[in-house]
Amino acid sequence: MNKIDVAVHDVLLRLQAFPRCPLAHLPTPLEAMERLSTHLGGVSLFVKRDDCTGLGFGGNKVRQLEFYFGQALKLKADTVLITGAVQSNFVRTAAAAARRMGMECHIQLEERVPDVDALHRSSGNVLLSRILGATLHSYPVGEDEAGADAKLHEISEQLRRQGRKPYIIPLGQGHDPLGALGYIDAAVELMTQLDERSLQIDHLVVTSGSGATHAGLLFGLRALGSQIEVTGVCPRRDAQSQQRRIEGHLEKLTAMLDFDPGIESKEIRLTDVSLAPGYGQLNDATIHALQLTAQCEGLFLDPVYTAKTMAGLFYLVEKNEIDNNILFWHTGGQPALFGYGDALVDVEADLGSLPSATARNGP
Ligand SMILES: Cc1ncc(COP(=O)(O)O)c(C=O)c1O
Repeated sequence: MNKIDVAVHDVLLRLQAFPRCPLAHLPTPLEAMERLSTHLGGVSLFVKRDDCTGLGFGGNKVRQLEFYFGQALKLKADTVLITGAVQSNFVRTAAAAARRMGMECHIQLEERVPDVDALHRSSGNVLLSRILGATLHSYPVGEDEAGADAKLHEISEQLRRQGRKPYIIPLGQGHDPLGALGYIDAAVELMTQLDERSLQIDHLVVTSGSGATHAGLLFGLRALGSQIEVTGVCPRRDAQSQQRRIEGHLEKLTAMLDFDPGIESKEIRLTDVSLAPGYGQLNDATIHALQLTAQCEGLFLDPVYTAKTMAGLFYLVEKNEIDNNILFWHTGGQPALFGYGDALVDVEADLGSLPSATARNGP
């Protein structure tokens, strides 16, 4: 076995200590974005299609749920509880996973985005969660993780008194980031795909929301000896607060896996350039990134996470902070497009002239 094989073997062995419930279509495709690369000029863009993880319209949360549901099944739970924003993808995929495993799902929707309209409250992920037959609850504020978790515990206690066996997927930072394990595994998947294609990636750009995806990828890549630079784009909070969050996740992962990949603070690269005016709220750069990616690649981003992340990627390329071979990690979320409706097209972004027809090398 060569050095990378030994590292992969070791990481997979450590992950095996955690119960896992297979839910995702894996491996997800790794594709070139040739027309978008031509449009930007001077860089080669690739996309890791975690929007194609399959279950319940897919997305990054499916990889994370494999580990939460692994634990829920081990504890013989029959009901799963989860909290998130009104257009949360996590709650939608959790409801889908619960159904797949024959469980009930209680979803708590928090008011994280100001001034939303009726479409936002009824379409997209909300509609899908209702089709899945999840029981919906509401929580009046959006920036109170401890309060939202406490409310879930109250609902859980009521369910327990009714004879159910509830399992809570927590929001706050006090718990082990089980979902990040799915992204340590995803780092193994990526390194295997790069090896098979003799492809080198210099920079990886990914959304950094709860931070489970970002921390898991960074931890996994370094554990495998890869020095790919990972930049997280913040859709939720400023870069300084997010830095502390990622540091916290990395510490917990080190303890959970009993392995220290020796990640330095400066390796936690973050930008909050596309955060304004706030979580779940559109800005021109986000709409531009969403329309440009669709019109160059036929690829849909979502308005809350991945379009903001692509806008961050464009900014980093423009500032020469990233170059050469860049991987955009698509984390899904497209159902939320329908909760935003015309706001995504009312602003006609200036896309410049798009590259003309090219002979692509396949998908
Ligand atoms: C589509 C999408 N992308 C990215 C994220 C952020 O992932 P993480 O919470 O692991 O940082 C989320 C979180 O809800 C999401 O729904």
